[in-house]
Amino acid sequence: MVSDHYVEGYRLLLGLNDSLQFLKTIPSNSIKLIVTSPPYNIGKVYEEKVKLNEYLDYQEEIAKECSRILKEDGNLAWEVGNFVYKKEIFPLDFFFYKIFKEDNGFKLRNRIIWRIEHGLHASLRFSGRYETILWFTKTDNYTFNLDPVRVPQKYPGKTYYKGEKRGKPSCNPLGKNPGDVWDIVLQDWEEQIWNIPNVKANHPEKTIHPAQFPIELVQRLILALTNEEDIVLDPFGGVGSSALGALLLNRKAISIDKEKEYIDITLERVKAMINGTLKIRKIGTKIYTPTGREKVSQIPKEWTNNENN
Ligand SMILES: C[S@@+](CC[C@H](N)C(=O)[O-])C[C@H]1O[C@@H](n2cnc3c(N)ncnc32)[C@H](O)[C@@H]1O
Repeated sequence: MVSDHYVEGYRLLLGLNDSLQFLKTIPSNSIKLIVTSPPYNIGKVYEEKVKLNEYLDYQEEIAKECSRILKEDGNLAWEVGNFVYKKEIFPLDFFFYKIFKEDNGFKLRNRIIWRIEHGLHASLRFSGRYETILWFTKTDNYTFNLDPVRVPQKYPGKTYYKGEKRGKPSCNPLGKNPGDVWDIVLQDWEEQIWNIPNVKANHPEKTIHPAQFPIELVQRLILALTNEEDIVLDPFGGVGSSALGALLLNRKAISIDKEKEYIDITLERVKAMINGTLKIRKIGTKIYTPTGREKVSQIPKEWTNNENN
């Protein structure tokens, strides 16, 4: 089933379908950016865990379709973590690199580390604190806009120390390249929440989806890898984070998901965006640093009480 929503100038195509089936309906050479976080085959509510090879066979078919529908100057960004089997980890980007590069001829431009500060605490290995984004291009002629995603310089007052420009500012006034390690929060720790006992992770964008990514993460990719009016497609769109990121930046969006519940939430979020009530953590918002005064950032009395030691 395909539903086509054009609301007040916002251009969005929502596909409630199996991704592969839906991709087959999209014209060749039509999409500027394909960005997604696919299912990781780890048994989340929306997926049935299958043998790794079976999972990869399906993803191989998806990659072929992505290659067909992507424009020659288009970009593809694939955000993944680990598949886990019998307590062993299998980093999915190893497999996706082969699928996109070797089997479909894509060119890797960055392997971005998305650093995630909070998460489950492992006991048999170091706790996982990052996922990766493989950014591929189809050709050498691709869109990359650095200026819209520059971040403030750490030392803007730095100067050239020799040559003709000696003493003149050496930094770019527009900011510096953000680099390939991104600190974009998944959970946002607001001061008032820190002070409530039994603290729960909280992010203003959180819905019922168990593996949603923040809109600001995808917006950095959209700003750098597309221009206004380009089409951004997410083949595993969940609750529409990529679509919202695109629409907010005056791009067109296609979001596909097989779960009606997630497509319905996407529509609700788009409506909220239009009437100005969408909960969103704005791109570039500073990460909250505990001050040490919050109850939860203090050492518990029990740890310092000698009788308990
Ligand atoms: C990791 S989540 C993506 C979440 C998304 N980035 C967001 O912010 O909401 C993967 C999504 O893929 C969907 N999915 C899994 N297999 C699919 C398939 N064969 N076709 C379409 N959607 C699928 C799931 O329902 C899930 O919402």
